[in-house]
Amino acid sequence: MSASREQFGSRLGFILAAAGSAVGIGNLVGFPVGAAKNGGGAFLLMYAIFVFLICLPVMMAEMSVGRKTHKDPLGAYSTLSSGAGHWKLAGWLSIITPFMIAVFYLVITVWLFGYLFQSATGNLTYLADPNTFGEFVNAPWIFVYMVAVLAVVYLILQGGVKQGIEKAAKLLMPTLFVMLIILVVFVLTQDNAMEGVKFYLVPDISKIDAAVVNGALSQAFFSLSLGMGIMITYGSYISDQDDVPGSAKLVALTDTAVAFIAGLMILPAIFSFNPATNPDELSESSVGMIFTFLPKIFLALQATIGYVGASFVASFFFLLVFFAAITSLVSIFEVPVAAYMDERKVSRKKALVVLGIMLVVMASLAALSFGISPMLTEFVSYAGQSKSLFDVIYDVFYDTVLPLNGLLICIFVIYRWKKANFNAELDKGSPKYRGSWFEKYVDFSVGTFIPLILLVIFVNTVALKYFGTALIG
Ligand code: PHE
Repeated sequence: MSASREQFGSRLGFILAAAGSAVGIGNLVGFPVGAAKNGGGAFLLMYAIFVFLICLPVMMAEMSVGRKTHKDPLGAYSTLSSGAGHWKLAGWLSIITPFMIAVFYLVITVWLFGYLFQSATGNLTYLADPNTFGEFVNAPWIFVYMVAVLAVVYLILQGGVKQGIEKAAKLLMPTLFVMLIILVVFVLTQDNAMEGVKFYLVPDISKIDAAVVNGALSQAFFSLSLGMGIMITYGSYISDQDDVPGSAKLVALTDTAVAFIAGLMILPAIFSFNPATNPDELSESSVGMIFTFLPKIFLALQATIGYVGASFVASFFFLLVFFAAITSLVSIFEVPVAAYMDERKVSRKKALVVLGIMLVVMASLAALSFGISPMLTEFVSYAGQSKSLFDVIYDVFYDTVLPLNGLLICIFVIYRWKKANFNAELDKGSPKYRGSWFEKYVDFSVGTFIPLILLVIFVNTVALKYFGTALIG
């Protein structure tokens, strides 16, 4: 370990930064809608079981590989495998994946910023119009918003781990939490809100089938920011005195709590602000929900609190989601930045500028693939569907490669790095972990059924996405 490697200043800072990465659009919108549509309380329970029994051990595997090596994912894989070529490939995959996910996550964050700006400047009626989103994503303004978002990300990341990432997380995460609670209290005190709570929580086991189980597990995996090299990178910034199992548990708990609480905001808001809402209309995708459905719901609020009041609530909501997106975007972009700094020994500034330019180019191409450029809009076609560049990046890196990366880290940790070393690393800084039931569970599961389940998800996704045949569901 080089003496000058940056570190988080405190355990709390590390936990908040990792939770900041985990808490994102998936928690605030994806989870509540998924739960409401797929069995309510029954889905919630299943999700929580997946988080703790399957995803938490993977998170601990990622964090311990990072902490052991104090390196970026590429360096970590190569150090622990003594430079074996095929494991280097897994290392490359865990820095290319976050870079590509950063491309499309940036595009979505840019839209969020635009919606925040528009609702705060009195244009909620415009946002609520069904044609707006299609126009909005193709307007040249997108590039202005992109500059603003990149400036925020640059400012945070150029401060480094302690002064940038940790400081931002310490400011944004508590703010996000308070904002979420304020919105929940506001929403729950509105008429008809309990209808939404019922719709969200009443268990309906009959909705649960193989596809829902698969979806809940993928959502849990993605929501904890796994398979993206993030927890390896953040783990590389903590010391041997830090408690990895304890920190990982807290991150998983925070992430699940935020997802659960967000449901108490989204569903009651839909039912109470606009009682005419037909539940079948709820969009499956977070993007559809945020940008086309929710503005309409916020506008309906003007009947009770006026246009200014409704605009205020909408802006407050977009600011909340924007904060969640920024801490996630920062964490994901830090992975290639850390890798470039470590592997090429360049300064943080140079890594940010070089990779930032590549990110802008790729994100601009993705942003042009919603209609402006016909070639990028109808980029390729598979499983009988025409796909834009944005869709391809999403399908390949988000849906397909994430479980593959999870599978690889499990196999790597148990069979290459070896179980005993993995355990010894987890014991450091966590005396209670040694000999515990949890240790026995993690030990067994990471080498057996967790990689097996991730393999099934991976194969199923490939079959479904690219060949149009589902093996499960
Ligand atoms: N975990 C985040 C969420 O639930 C998503 C995320 C995406 C985090 C990309 C980091 C990077 O929305």
